[in-house]
Amino acid sequence: MGLNMAKVKVELCMGSSCFSRGNSKTLELLENFVKENNVENDVEIEGHLCLGRCSSGPIVRVNNKDYENIKAECVIDLIREELIK
Ligand code: FES
Repeated sequence: MGLNMAKVKVELCMGSSCFSRGNSKTLELLENFVKENNVENDVEIEGHLCLGRCSSGPIVRVNNKDYENIKAECVIDLIREELIK
């Protein structure tokens, strides 16, 4: 157990709409990214039930900032940026 808090917190909407519109792929890419880069202690991944904004989905929250209609690849880029901050 590390003493430091994760640098990046990623929250994915796992409601059926967001999940099927891209967050299933985002979750897969994210898990691979974390493994490949050994950043398990720096990236915290959390799932949410439907956030009630399906039409703007898929929704991903990175360090408390909401991104709507976001592609899996863009999420990885965002995480990279947050990690080097
Ligand atoms: S499923 Fe994500 S907002 Fe509804």
